[in-house]
This record gives sequence, structure tokens and C-alpha cells, in this order.
Amino acid sequence: MQKRIFHIESNDAVARDTFRLVLRTDGPVAVCSGQFVDIDIPGYYLRRPISVSDSLPDGVVLYYKVVGEGTRVLSAMAPGAALELLLPLGNGFDPEKCAAEALLIGGGLGAAPLYLLAKELLAAGKKVTAVLGFNKADEICLIDELKALGVPVHIATMDGSVGTKGFVTDAIAAAKPAFDRFYTCGPLPMMKAVCAALSAPGEVSLEERMGCGAGFCYGCTVQTASGPRRVCADGPVFDKEEVLW
Ligand SMILES: Cc1cc2nc3c(=O)[nH]c(=O)nc-3n(C[C@H](O)[C@H](O)[C@H](O)COP(=O)(O)OP(=O)(O)OC[C@H]3O[C@@H](n4cnc5c(N)ncnc54)[C@H](O)[C@@H]3O)c2cc1C
Ligand code: FES
Repeated sequence: MQKRIFHIESNDAVARDTFRLVLRTDGPVAVCSGQFVDIDIPGYYLRRPISVSDSLPDGVVLYYKVVGEGTRVLSAMAPGAALELLLPLGNGFDPEKCAAEALLIGGGLGAAPLYLLAKELLAAGKKVTAVLGFNKADEICLIDELKALGVPVHIATMDGSVGTKGFVTDAIAAAKPAFDRFYTCGPLPMMKAVCAALSAPGEVSLEERMGCGAGFCYGCTVQTASGPRRVCADGPVFDKEEVLW
């Protein structure tokens, strides 16, 4: 884990309240899918954890939603501005546990870390299908990027404006994709429903409020089947059997 200065290359709105942030630094960056960065936002004591959506040779691509003060400040920052990041944080997904065919299931911006995971799985010769759920059409993002990798993408929207009307579980039932392992990131109720509906082994990326972000303060501890675990250091990715819903 390192503390490094990055500069904003671009910080563009890509969907409602949703921004794509490209950050570059002055040397190589090594990050795996499911890992996250912790951003020091000027004026705020606590850093903001954001998943890595793509890894560049000298940078990272992040997607974030404006939900509060920190992300609002971030959304107003211009190219060239500097940000201090802690990275890489967390354990990440394990693409090697997929035998041949993976199903990626994202809810809202939970799609972001699944993009880098799709790249890793494809590079390892695995087949990848994605099912992404959004409330409305104006929240949709990352679909074109996943399709550009050659990943078939099935969409569910709550209002039925795009794809299957309803939940990601409805879109999975409609598409009937073949897979031996699933990976999911998104709202907790969505991931709970996914784990209840799918009998295949799977990995779940959890979110928790964080203090240090690096394993020291135990502020992000959750109870799991194997006892208390820190989301920032032991997670954020856990096998589905570990999660106590
Ligand atoms: C491992 C991990 C990965 C994440 N990846 C993404 C991502 O890729 N894109 C994205 O948009 N969001 C992501 N989040 C959620 C993101 O961290 C929060 O939306 C963000 O911190 C909100 O900051 P704020 O100042 O705008 O909100 P405020 O409500 O003003 O924040 C107040 C405090 O609560 C914390 N907080 C608020 N909401 C959350 C939350 N959902 N999870 C954790 N801490 C929270 C903030 O970090 C801050 O310390 C992730 C969270 C975690 C734990
Ligand atoms: S946030 Fe401090 S241990 Fe996880």
C-alpha cells in the first residue's frame, strides 16, 4: 500500500450524477480488479474509498456517484488538479477460481470494478457474460465499454425503460447465461437476492464506512461466517458463503 500523488487527466459526467475520473501518476501502477483507492479530498478528514474500474500503466480509471459533500467537491475538480491516493487497497476478486465461464452481476456503479475483472477473465481465456441493473435509463453506464471487450451485456431497469423490467435476478432468469462462477458488486439487497437465486459459487464485494482504509482501525469490521473481518483489508471481496446477510 502506497500514498501517491495523482493528477486528474479527465473528470467527465457520464450518467446522472455519475463521473468517470482518469488519474495519472509519475510511475507504474499495479492494481487488480475489486481493489480500491482511498482518495484524500481537500477539506475533508476522512478519505473516500472508490473501486478501481480500470488499471492504466501509470494510472487508474474510477467511476463515482455524487452522493454527498466529498464526491460533490471531487466532481468540481478540473484536469491538472492533484489528488493524494492510498492504493492499492483490499484483496480483490479472484478470476482464477472461474473454471471457464463467468457471470458478472452489477447494480448501479457496482458495474465499475466488474469492467477490470472482465478484462482479467478474458485475458485468462474465460468466457464472460454481464448482467447490469439500474433504476432508470439515465443512470446507465459502462455498457458500451463492456460490449467493446466483446462481453454480452444484459440489462435490467426498475422502470423497464431499457432491457428487462425489474431486478438483475429477473434479467438473469430471462437470459439464462451459462456460468460456473459469479462475481457481484452493488447494493446489499441486490447481492443478497443474487446469492439466494444462484447455486453456483460466487464472490461478493461489500461496502462499509471506513476510517483508515488500510486495516489498522477496525472501523470497517463486519461479522462473517468465519468471524469478524475488516472490509478494507480482508475484503472488500468475500466468498458468498462468508457473508452473513
Ligand atoms: C470498498 C468501497 C468501494 C467503493 N467504490 C465506489 C465506487 O466505485 N464508486 C462510487 O461512487 N462509490 C463507491 N463507494 C462508495 C463511496 O465511498 C461513497 O459514496 C463516498 O465515500 C461518499 O462520499 P461523500 O463525501 O460524497 O458522502 P458523505 O455522505 O458526505 O460521506 C460522509 C462519510 O461517509 C462515508 N460514506 C458515505 N457513503 C459511503 C458508502 N456507501 N461506503 C463507504 N463510505 C461511505 C464517506 O466516505 C465519508 O467518510 C465505495 C465504497 C467502498 C467501501
Ligand atoms: S477502515 Fe480501518 S481497518 Fe478498515
